[in-house]
Amino acid sequence: MPEESVPAPESAPVPESAAAPAESLKPAAPVATIAEIGRHEGQSVTLQGWLYNLRESGKLVFPIFRDGTGSIQGVAHVKSVTPEVFETLKHLTHESSVIVTGKVRADKRAPGGYELDVEDVQVVQRVPESDPYPITLKEHGVDFLQERRHLWMRSPRQSAILRIRAEIMRAAAEYFDMNGFIRTDPPILTPAACEGTSTLFPVDYFGDPAYLTQSGQLYVEATALALGKVYSFGPTFRAEKSKTRRHLTEFWMVEPEVAFMDLEGLMELAENYISHIVQSVVKNRAAELEVIGRDVAKLETVKAPFPRLRYDEAVELLNQAHKNGQLEQAFEYGNDFGSPDETWLSSQYDRPVMVHRYPADVKAFYMEPDPKDPRYALCVDVLAPEGYGEVIGGSQRVSSYELLSARIDEHKLPREAFEWYLDLRRYGSVPHAGFGMGIERMVSWVCALDHVRETIPFPRMLNRMYP
Ligand code: 4AD
Ligand code: MG
Repeated sequence: MPEESVPAPESAPVPESAAAPAESLKPAAPVATIAEIGRHEGQSVTLQGWLYNLRESGKLVFPIFRDGTGSIQGVAHVKSVTPEVFETLKHLTHESSVIVTGKVRADKRAPGGYELDVEDVQVVQRVPESDPYPITLKEHGVDFLQERRHLWMRSPRQSAILRIRAEIMRAAAEYFDMNGFIRTDPPILTPAACEGTSTLFPVDYFGDPAYLTQSGQLYVEATALALGKVYSFGPTFRAEKSKTRRHLTEFWMVEPEVAFMDLEGLMELAENYISHIVQSVVKNRAAELEVIGRDVAKLETVKAPFPRLRYDEAVELLNQAHKNGQLEQAFEYGNDFGSPDETWLSSQYDRPVMVHRYPADVKAFYMEPDPKDPRYALCVDVLAPEGYGEVIGGSQRVSSYELLSARIDEHKLPREAFEWYLDLRRYGSVPHAGFGMGIERMVSWVCALDHVRETIPFPRMLNRMYP
């Protein structure tokens, strides 16, 4: 049945504090963005944005505007604009939204290379003095800022990080799209664990238990056997009770999976992949890297091939480091590496290091044992340099039905939930391999951040669900 047609509503009364209606916002000159303002040198343009900061000295005001693409300093002399425009600028409050027209002037001393000689300004919404923007330019504590994440992200540093994140995600998809991978999306609601039962988020699925996915891997194994080379890209969840600078409870993972690929092929894919992503950021986000003060020379060295170490060789290095007093705790052979171990190991190289063939016991049930010595798994962890630790975890997958079936029982996994996964070994099983790369870990490293909480617009952590 067609929906009843409703007469168009009369225009609603606009409360005084609301944004001005759009018709009154006609730009006085061609609209430009700050990032691309250099194209308009010598011309008048209109910017749409917010007031970030304001300085004044006598007859001059220097408002700094931001528009999401960057920031630029404006200049207005009391004699160069009308008295109204001068007064408006002089009393503009932080984060008031504005439409500004001015002439673009090159200035070598300016951070972006340009300044704006302001001609006109229109205030869209003025932040009142009685309720000022809560984040001032002085230092704030992390809790204060996290509580106001929805506003904090407007700061030049935070918005630069989010722009770099977007580039990492773009390049991450681009590499696979250019190299014959098909994007396939695994479900987010799942009946069983992929990465250990201790970090599952339960969901009530119409009275039955279900879980938020920890990894799309098992499903992309299925799509790889259907389509050959695939990848997934989506949110994943871990009920991590750990409060570390590397763990979120909700994070984004990109997961390639390739039929007929072995561990060697996987390591080559991983190093080419990371090189592509990091070099894309260096090339396309130079301005943002500068805003956050990143040492770009440390990213420029990130080119394949990466050094490779067997787990046993890595343990040897860790033991030596402990003897020399560089590592507090002795490493116990047979364990998975802890954060301090990964940090020390990864800080030994100028590019990521690939640690392969961990003892099978410390790794996941689906990893193929090394035929040369089945005590080891055909797996690889890629550890980022500068102490950032694991950014990729991957492996060749068990391809034998009998072995996988035994592993599922050994790990006490619910068999019924894995019957479909066993089918992949019943019908046309092949060697295959894949990995998962955590986007936030990549952002953390590429931006040299102290904590993953700044890598995603709204981080979800043990003690944070707001905003
Ligand atoms: O090493 P993980 O647990 O591997 C898997 O989930 C595999 N099933 C992936 C696969 O082979 N398709 O996780 C992969 C990556 C880690 O290397 C790390 O970068 C990131 O996901 N990661 C996290 N990032 C942020 N917070 C957490 N709690 C994370 N746990 C893993
Ligand atoms: Mg891992």
